Amino acid sequence: MRRSALDFLGGTQSMSMKQLSAILAATTQPLFADFASANFIQLYLYAHRVDGLQPGVYKFWPEPAELEQIKNGDQRVAAAGLSLGQELAGNACVAFSMIGDLERAARAHGDRSYRYVHFEAGAIGHRLYLAAEALGLGATGIGAFYDEEVHRYLNLAPEQGRVVYHFAIGYPVSDPRLAA
Ligand SMILES: Cc1cc2nc3c(=O)[nH]c(=O)nc-3n(C[C@H](O)[C@H](O)[C@H](O)COP(=O)(O)O)c2cc1C
Repeated sequence: MRRSALDFLGGTQSMSMKQLSAILAATTQPLFADFASANFIQLYLYAHRVDGLQPGVYKFWPEPAELEQIKNGDQRVAAAGLSLGQELAGNACVAFSMIGDLERAARAHGDRSYRYVHFEAGAIGHRLYLAAEALGLGATGIGAFYDEEVHRYLNLAPEQGRVVYHFAIGYPVSDPRLAA
């Protein structure tokens, strides 16, 4: 039944911190693949509606599992705008930027590194999909975003990484494909 959500409901319904914690925990489980000897992806969250979490932008630290707030306030317009104006990133409960440390990856893997960073982002994305679905939410991978605007918005210098993937999780709108 897992499908990418076509959009999210927006409105006032929030997700719980317990759901968000479980989703984030799913992203920190080891990946068993030759590209996964080290982690190169850093998650940033645009929290719109998560119980107990002020709307804002957060950096996720996996060890220990912590969210560091780096921006305050409503991020719905920013998240949608950065995601090439796709409203689903603002209508979700939480949206993500995955930032890949391409320089460190290149030092470790040379020419293969660009591919490996994207493999890792894709694998994390699929964990987000499955975790969201298992918790009764919906998710959508977002491959369309304004790279330089994301870097500026998150205050990322080139050596801190480059955006490789966006993601959104929330309450999906009804999907006629699932009723077919
Ligand atoms: C890497 C990746 C990037 C995607 N980018 C977008 C996007 O920018 N906007 C969007 O609405 N859906 C996006 N999607 C969702 C795809 O449209 C969707 O996965 C595809 O239609 C297959 O449907 P399914 O996930 O329900 O099987 C993306 C999915 C992936 C895996």
